[in-house]
Amino acid sequence: MAWPGAYPPDNWHVSSLPLVMRRVRFEGIMLNVAPPMTVSKSQSGASSYRAAQIAHEFDEWAPTYDTGRLASWYRAQALLAFKHLDLPINGRVLDIGCATGWALRCLARRRTDVTGTGIDMSEAMITAAQAASRHLDFQNLQFRQLDWEGTGKIVGPFDVILCLSTLHYFAQPGASLRRMRSLMSENGQLLIVERAVEHSILTRIWDFLHRRVMRDNVTFEPTSRLIALAHEAGFRDVRVLSRVTRIMWKNKLYTSLVLIEARA
Ligand SMILES: C[S@@+](CC[C@H](N)C(=O)[O-])C[C@H]1O[C@@H](n2cnc3c(N)ncnc32)[C@H](O)[C@@H]1O
Repeated sequence: MAWPGAYPPDNWHVSSLPLVMRRVRFEGIMLNVAPPMTVSKSQSGASSYRAAQIAHEFDEWAPTYDTGRLASWYRAQALLAFKHLDLPINGRVLDIGCATGWALRCLARRRTDVTGTGIDMSEAMITAAQAASRHLDFQNLQFRQLDWEGTGKIVGPFDVILCLSTLHYFAQPGASLRRMRSLMSENGQLLIVERAVEHSILTRIWDFLHRRVMRDNVTFEPTSRLIALAHEAGFRDVRVLSRVTRIMWKNKLYTSLVLIEARA
C-alpha cells in the first residue's frame, strides 16, 4: 500500500510507528505496508519522517541482526571492502550505517592502531554495537546514534570512510556524498558497497516498489549514476573495484553488488 496523500503531516511521532507498521522483510529489503500516521515530528529525534521510519525498522532488526540469515551476507560485503582497504598507520575510519559495528570490530582486531567511529540512525543498533565492543574492550572504537542526513556533528578528518549497503537509504545521496567528502583527509579512501541495480532484475523490481509503491526514498541507483554523484561531490579516481553477481551467495538468493572506491 502506498502512503496515501502527501507525505506524513507534521504531527507525527516515531513512538506511534509500532502501532501502525506492518513489515515484510524479504532478502534484505524491508517492505512497509502501513496506513497513514498521525505522529509528531517535533517530538522525534530523527531528522525526517523517513529517517524515523528507517531507524524504527532497524531498531526492530537489531536483536537478530548478527545471528540472522543475512548476517554472513553483510559481513562478506565488509570483507570484500577490506580486501582493498588503504589505511595508513594510526588511521581513522568512519563507518556510516555501521549497524551492530561488526565491520569496525573486525578491522580493530586486525589493526590495533585503528581509530574507528561508527554511526547509525538506529538506537538499538548503536546500543548493540557499544555492548559488543565494550565486552571486547576496544578502546579505540566509538559508536554514535546519528542520522547522516541530519545535522549531528561529526569531527573528521577520516582516512577511510565505509558506506556498506547504506547509501540506498539516503534521501539525498549527492548531498550525503558531499558530506563524506568534506570529512576526508587528503587522498582519503571512500569505499561504497551497493546493489548493482543494472545487473539485477530483482533489485530493479525493489527499486520500482520503493519509488512507486512505498514512496519511501529508498532508491537503488545504477553504478554509473553513483560514480557520477561521487565525481560531483568532489571525489576523484572514482572506480569500480569489484563486482559480485551470484545466484546464491552467503545465504542470500541472487546477489548483485558493486564495490566502488573514490579518493578525496
Ligand atoms: C542494511 S544496513 C547495513 C549495515 C552495515 N553497514 C552492514 O553492512 O552490515 C543499513 C544501516 O544503515 C543505517 N542507516 C540508514 N540510513 C541512515 C542514515 N541516514 N544515517 C545513519 N544510518 C543510517 C540503518 O539504520 C542500518 O543499520
